[in-house]
Amino acid sequence: SFLILLVFIGAYLIGSLSSAVMLCRLTGLPDPRTQGSGNPGATNVLRMGSKKAGCGCLANRYTEGRDSGLNCPLAGTGYVLCQLNGVGGFSGALISGFFQFRGGKGVATALGAFLALSPWLALAAVATWLAVFMLSRISSLSAISAAMMTPIYSLWLIADPASRGIILLMALLLLVRHHGNIRRLLHGEEKKSG
Ligand code: G3P
Repeated sequence: SFLILLVFIGAYLIGSLSSAVMLCRLTGLPDPRTQGSGNPGATNVLRMGSKKAGCGCLANRYTEGRDSGLNCPLAGTGYVLCQLNGVGGFSGALISGFFQFRGGKGVATALGAFLALSPWLALAAVATWLAVFMLSRISSLSAISAAMMTPIYSLWLIADPASRGIILLMALLLLVRHHGNIRRLLHGEEKKSG
């Protein structure tokens, strides 16, 4: 159980390193938490006008999610440790321990994790995101729609009940982190992009 705690805390701390804040610092941009939506994430960094930092942030988070070990082939305790590592990393990305608990909204990280679990699941999530984005031009609405649909897709695309549970948990956490966006969407105040 000590090992379980250690793996979870380690993954949480690594996930807590906000690439959006650090990339902005490195490229001389202002802190994304003080700009636009205030979210340290790829959408907001793009909104600030830096394609390079925005794409870097997306790629970094995506890779982190993909390599978090959610799909690790180990059995027994090893399997539990991998899943804990994935959930710990995702929690850090959302509730950063290093940046006043203000992490991102988990979209890129979740996509990476979904890809690790099943390329078809990731494809279905991306297709949903793109379809909603083409219709609405709203990044948050696209992510919210994809997060709501992915647990449903997983019923067909994922056989392992534990992985399905983790997908549902990640989708719920992602939706909770979008509460401000949901409020703005309901009031018709959410900004379009592009
Ligand atoms: O990538 C996160 C997105 O879903 C919303 O970001 O900055 O519009 O709140 P933002």
